[in-house]
Amino acid sequence: MTRSARQTKPLLEAIDFSVTLHTPSVSVRPVDRVSYSVEPGEVLAIVGESGSGKTILNMAPLDLLPVGVNADMEGAVRFEGVDLLKMSASELEAICGGGIGVVFQDPLSALNPVRKIGRQLTEGIEHHLGLTAAQADSRAAELMTLVGLSDPRSRMQQYPHELSGGMRQRVGIAMSIAGEPRLLIADEPTTALDVTVQAQIVALLKDLQKRLGMAIVIITHDFGVVSGLADKVAVMYAGRLSEIGGVRDVLIEPAHPYTQGLLRSVPSLTVPMNTKFAGLPGQPPNLARRIEGCAFAPRCAEVRPECSVHRPALLSVPRSATGHLAACPVVINHPA
Ligand SMILES: Nc1ncnc2c1ncn2[C@@H]1O[C@H](COP(=O)(O)OP(=O)(O)O)[C@@H](O)[C@H]1O
Ligand SMILES: [Mg+2]
Repeated sequence: MTRSARQTKPLLEAIDFSVTLHTPSVSVRPVDRVSYSVEPGEVLAIVGESGSGKTILNMAPLDLLPVGVNADMEGAVRFEGVDLLKMSASELEAICGGGIGVVFQDPLSALNPVRKIGRQLTEGIEHHLGLTAAQADSRAAELMTLVGLSDPRSRMQQYPHELSGGMRQRVGIAMSIAGEPRLLIADEPTTALDVTVQAQIVALLKDLQKRLGMAIVIITHDFGVVSGLADKVAVMYAGRLSEIGGVRDVLIEPAHPYTQGLLRSVPSLTVPMNTKFAGLPGQPPNLARRIEGCAFAPRCAEVRPECSVHRPALLSVPRSATGHLAACPVVINHPA
């Protein structure tokens, strides 16, 4: 799906964004000069092996890292033109729940176990939309219906443990859209769920995205989710983007050897749900060490001497669609 990107300002724009995490024993760099943008109403999927920096990339700018993790951030991450990295804690809190909604992998972590579902929903609504208790109550019931929960009034009287995993994620999604966000950030929202429930949650996100016109950044390791939901896909490796482009371009003609490796077991765009990454030989690099050259070079079947010298820039893939970029000198300088 192409959109009139030229006329609109990006909704979200990361520019040379880096994160360094400091722990008592070591400093790691899980996000290393990442740039990308998301247009209004667009769905971007971010894929990559576990530990490649997807969660830190999305949560650090929102100040949503686990308590005790100390992060240094460089570059810029602009939401509607304003740099999130320069916002105060209270400004960020207003954005999360307002313009940006966040859906977590484990809906239980987003819900308070000892408070009724209804109260948790209405609290956020009162706070972010400035409604009275009665207005918030009917808005909560509306939201529950919108996310496909039947009998909302009695569900609102229940506690999180009384709901199934899929229902809890529906509540998590209802909470995330309560503030009518222009951007929804969903970090592996289906990973903790059964396969059939995963498909329902993806269908719900797709439906909400269409109805509400919001953009979505979805982190996933499921190519069924990518092809079913996304307009654009970004592939992350060792804290860097190795490839980004339209979902059909990247899935049908992956340019980067890493993306090709990830996709090797996937026969076509009509991949079933729950198609997980095929095993790639070798291990991702240690992010505590400075990586010279291409981070994938040690595992790459097409590696050349220059790959270990300079970090390859993310450049247009020859003879591919606009916006299809890859960070690989083999592809860019020596197209097949
Ligand atoms: N709490 C933490 N403390 C120290 N390092 C962390 C922590 N969380 C993540 N990291 C580092 O950041 C890297 C990226 O993590 P993450 O963004 O969670 O990866 P992904 O979401 O792609 O699986 C990890 O490989 C690890 O090196
Ligand atoms: Mg993660």
